Amino acid sequence: YSLKPFNTFGIDATAHQFVILESAQEVELLDSLLPDREPMLVLGGGSNLLLTSDFKGTVVAPWFTGIEIIEDENEYVLVRVAAGEDWDSLVEWSCLRNLWGIENLSLIPGKVGACPIQNIGAYGVEVKDSIETVTYYHLDTKRFETITHNQCHFGYRTSIFKQELRNKIIVTSVVFRLSKLPTAVLHYANLQDLAGETPSPMTIRNVVIGIRESKLPDPKITGNAGSFFKNPVITEELFIKIKETYPEIPSYPSNEGTVKVPAGWLIEKGGWKGKSIGNAGVHAKQALVIVNHGGATGAEIIALAKEIQRSIYSQFGIELEMEVNAV
Ligand code: EPU
Repeated sequence: YSLKPFNTFGIDATAHQFVILESAQEVELLDSLLPDREPMLVLGGGSNLLLTSDFKGTVVAPWFTGIEIIEDENEYVLVRVAAGEDWDSLVEWSCLRNLWGIENLSLIPGKVGACPIQNIGAYGVEVKDSIETVTYYHLDTKRFETITHNQCHFGYRTSIFKQELRNKIIVTSVVFRLSKLPTAVLHYANLQDLAGETPSPMTIRNVVIGIRESKLPDPKITGNAGSFFKNPVITEELFIKIKETYPEIPSYPSNEGTVKVPAGWLIEKGGWKGKSIGNAGVHAKQALVIVNHGGATGAEIIALAKEIQRSIYSQFGIELEMEVNAV
């Protein structure tokens, strides 16, 4: 089976078998479907995935959908959303109902089942702030389990699902707590213009969509998986040292004694913005995004990424860690 239509990088790799699940209950049929010990790849929207070669195993796509309000209180609602629901459709759904919490996360590609795994984030908001519980099927115990927000061990672009539970579970649904009271987060650059007003979630959504469309390549046109690297967290000592040479270096707040710096800025300063090696290139408007100019293989993308990592390490002494899931 060709996976080309199912990964936003547009990599032309194949899988042995492709299984689409149409309900959460169908997850229990996997045992009978999966040949012994064949590796498995759970596929959401394929928007954070880099296929480095053909996948010698089964791709499982939990693409069942559904949005259901399970609790409706004065100040908030709890909404249970099935794993296969399109993330941005959920954001639009909540903005249409004037519910707060995920409007800054507009236009992020992918499906709901994937959002807790890397704790998607943008414009000052992370999805963890709106997640109440996550339900998954455990492939070893063969049971459905539900864990609470605190048990998910959320961090910057990480969670228990990328650590202890990696490759062991399939997320089947997520419960979100969305606020009926305004909770606007407007401290990110272009959103500050809204701070004097009382914007609705839909207004914020539209501004975010405008920012994303101006910087980020549309995966339907140019293959990419959003940010390719994480923004590195470095010691304050190293930050001060870099600042001597580059006083303009931007930074984000981080844990005590550390500073988070934008990888896109480092890559631009490294002279990589708009550069290509073969069919793989660095996006001209946002250096944190690696693009497929057409026909790139996963190996070509990785080769470019390694060159960038080497160059940033020699220039700044910083190791860039990949944000995309390389398979
Ligand atoms: N910058 C440059 N050159 C570039 C890119 C960025 O100098 O080519 C500078 C910007 O001027 C700015 C800073 O770096 O001062 C931050 O840039 P930006 O606001 O574009 O955000 P980012 O840190 O590069 C992160 C997330 C994005 C998210 C944005 C907005 C990560 C890995 N990425 O990017 O998430 O949309 O913030 O909040 O944390 C994703 O994960 O796929 C993603 C797109």
